Order: sequence, then structure tokens, then C-alpha cells
Amino acid sequence: DEAVAVQHLLSLFDIEVDDLRSILATSLSLKQRLAAGDRPSILDRRVIALLFQKPSLRTRVSFETGMAQLGGSSLFLGEDVGWGKRESPADFTQVLGQFVDAVVCRAKKHEHVELLASFNAMPVINGLTDLCHPCQAMADVLTVRESLGGYKDKHIVFVGDGNNVAQSVALCTAMLGMRFTLSCPPDYEMDTDWLARIAARYPKARIETVTDPHRAVAEADAIYTDVWTSMGQEAEMAARRAAFANYQVNEKLMAAAPRHARVLHCLPAVRGQEITDAVIDSYQSDVIRQAGNRMHAQKGLLVWLLNRKWIDDNISSD
Ligand code: CP
Ligand code: NVA
Repeated sequence: DEAVAVQHLLSLFDIEVDDLRSILATSLSLKQRLAAGDRPSILDRRVIALLFQKPSLRTRVSFETGMAQLGGSSLFLGEDVGWGKRESPADFTQVLGQFVDAVVCRAKKHEHVELLASFNAMPVINGLTDLCHPCQAMADVLTVRESLGGYKDKHIVFVGDGNNVAQSVALCTAMLGMRFTLSCPPDYEMDTDWLARIAARYPKARIETVTDPHRAVAEADAIYTDVWTSMGQEAEMAARRAAFANYQVNEKLMAAAPRHARVLHCLPAVRGQEITDAVIDSYQSDVIRQAGNRMHAQKGLLVWLLNRKWIDDNISSD
């Protein structure tokens, strides 16, 4: 028998552009309905598990609340379930797959989420790995769309580390006909294999690297930054602080950007390091709404994964 394909979201490479547009349209529709007090039970009695190897506020709480709002529920699984410690990955995953409809996994290594998905026991959603953070990128483009009125040709300039967040945002912009520029010091560029995969799948992608941050932001519609030292890189903190010293998003950098430019940060931020209080708290900053959009984006994703028919019957993509 041919194995039944299970749809995963380990990265945005797992879906097509039309799928992404459908998810985002669903997210926006559900966001509007929530604002009107409407919480439709689209995932009635569905259950997801959250399997996290690292701390989280946004990803954990937004998946749990989003699932509850849709009429389903979620289980947060800590270290005590013994993932990778008490039993074989095959036994663990196939047993878990009989209990839950999907798993959101935050893993230290991307290979861990790939292993979890390899048994096709349930859909696996990447809740952040060292390689990428697809749920973050979906919330980010939703935020850009709300602030700037669309996706097409909008230019996100990421100032800082070419990390998991930068890599997902770069891919997501390529899928939506946006522009992406990374401004980083040498040795902190995005993974070359990742960039090659983007170029192969989306030949019209407009992705650039510009070393000088002041030059990089000159045509920015949104300026995005993230921590200089990601979770798990603590030993490199001193070297990273030195390398990124000229890449702080501060008022001087904002003065080099167009006045309409918005400010994004995936959070948590180290205020005073990669971004100043004056900028993150400015009228140009969308970071709080951006974090709120994590829940809306993921509700769209969950409905797309677990009740596609509802989308076919209720949502027209744009
Ligand atoms: N941005 C983000 O993923 O936040 P958490 O680490 O708090 O989930
Ligand atoms: N780049 C950061 C993002 C946290 C949401 C990290 O991986 O720690």
C-alpha cells in the first residue's frame, strides 16, 4: 500500500504559494470575526500537542489560545514525556499520533522535527528550529499587509543575524512577490543552501545582502530585527555583541529609512542591544500587534491543516 501523505509544516517549502495565500486569507477572516466577538468552532474537539525543547511565550500561548478559540484543545508536553530519552523515536511518535491531531514542535535541531515528521503519524508544525521559524514569518507578512496595505513589492530589510527568523522571512517574501534585504556583518549571512533552495523554487525572488545598514534601509518599507544571540548560542554572546555593534536599530538608523517604514521584531527583544527603547516604542513600531498576529496566523494554519473543507466553503483567497 502506498503511504498516505501527511501534510507537515517543517518550513514554508512544504506548502505552495496558493496554500500560503489561503492560510493568510483564513487568518485575516478569523481575526475579523474574533474582533466582532465570533469564535466559530471550526476545530471542534480536535487536540494538538506542543512538544518544546526550548522556552516560549508567544508560540506556546498563541497555539494554545488559538486552538481553544477554534473549539479544540492543546496539551503542553514538557521534558517529562521523555522525547528522545525514554523510548525510540518511532515508538514515541506513533503512540503520540494516536492521541493527537497534530504536533507543534520547538526543537534545538531542525533534524529533530524532520525525524518526528518522518513517521507520518500526524501533521508536524515547526514551532522554531535552528533553521527556520515558519509560523513567525506568516505573522510577519500579515502584519506588513495590515500596516502597508498588501504584500506585493513591499520591502522588508532585516538588520542583524541571518538566523532562523531571517531565513523564514526571506522565503515567505519570495513566495509573496515581496523584496527582502539582509544587512549583517560578514560571517552572519543566511545559510547558502537555504538561499539556493529559495532561488531554485522561486527564481523571481528578490533577496539581497547589503553590509552597510544605513544603505540597506534606504528603501525599506519595514525594518526587522531579532536578537544577536539566539537560544543555544549563549557561548558566542561576547563575539556576537562585538560583530553586531554597528547593526543596532536605533534612531540614527531610522533617520536613514523612509518615514513610512514600519519596525518589526519577533520578540523577545534585548532592549538596548539590537534595538533601542526609542525605536521599539515609537509610532513606527508594529511589534506588539506582530506578536498578536502569531495567534491569528496559526489559527489559519491549523484550520488549513485540520479542516480544509471549511476554508473551501468559507474563504476566497486574494
Ligand atoms: N517569537 C517567538 O517565537 O517567541 P517565543 O520564543 O516566546 O515563542
Ligand atoms: N532567533 C531567536 C528567535 C526566538 C523567537 C532564537 O532562535 O532564539
